[in-house]
Amino acid sequence: MTEATIIDGKAIAARVTDKIAAQNEGYVHETGTSPCLAVVLVGEDPASAVYVRNKGRTAEKVGFKSIQHTLPIDTPESDIITLINTLNDDPAVNGILVQLPLPAHIDATRIIELIAPEKDVDGFHPINVGRLGAGDFDKALIPCTPAGSVILAKSALGDNLSGLHTVIIGRSNIVGKPAAQLFLAENCTVTIAHSRTRDIEDVVRRADIVVAAVGRPKMVKGAWIKPGATVIDVGINRIAAPEKGEGKTRLVGDVDFASAVSVAGYITPVPGGVGPMTIALLMANTLAAACRQNGVPHLIKPL
Ligand code: GUN
Repeated sequence: MTEATIIDGKAIAARVTDKIAAQNEGYVHETGTSPCLAVVLVGEDPASAVYVRNKGRTAEKVGFKSIQHTLPIDTPESDIITLINTLNDDPAVNGILVQLPLPAHIDATRIIELIAPEKDVDGFHPINVGRLGAGDFDKALIPCTPAGSVILAKSALGDNLSGLHTVIIGRSNIVGKPAAQLFLAENCTVTIAHSRTRDIEDVVRRADIVVAAVGRPKMVKGAWIKPGATVIDVGINRIAAPEKGEGKTRLVGDVDFASAVSVAGYITPVPGGVGPMTIALLMANTLAAACRQNGVPHLIKPL
């Protein structure tokens, strides 16, 4: 059995960000200003801090302005509401992202619903969720990780995914549900499997494309994969790695890569798969938001 081809998410993300940087030059020429992304981080969760730092760095690399608001973990909800209102009202801010999870005393749904839909570069606001469901891609801002997953599947299989069976494992609002909508829009037959699904292994084994987004390290085994299938691993789980030394950790996906790589046709690694794509698509959404807000025609069609 030959091994799966590894889908190089880092390289594909770099191609997307190069394209955005080039298109951004047109935007700057047209408007005399750069798109601006505001990222809000509450608390000091180390993983969230790394994601937020990478988002800011990439924004600057493609030529955007990047503002980061880092607030203490005990910030009252009312302060966050005030900040979001200020960012909503500031015409110089084109995109707003509140890093999740938020501390338990803050109502995340309330905060997400407060973000102006046209600045909601995560695509989590109910208006954007509805537009995605209705297939209104010209107006919607699309969640970044699911959009990145579709691009990675297309990088392996070509642009036409029509008729392929995509099984998405996980039903979160951030990944599973929007991924189902996006693969449906690509004319896939879509199944959403989750913790209550019966005979989940048999369901996954019918998939031409598997999208694993459950947050359980190495849950999906090679024996669950149909030979030759394309595996998109959305999971980013930090686990103990005593083989690297005491107290050391490493990142693994939701797929047991070691067993899946000898069955799949294509597979994304963790790290270096979906992760970089999420950030690249955030940049695409920020440029799209800025173009729409300022009446600048934009060419980016990342999907
Ligand atoms: N936390 C984990 N993934 C995400 C994401 O895509 N956006 C935000 N805002 N927070 C996250």
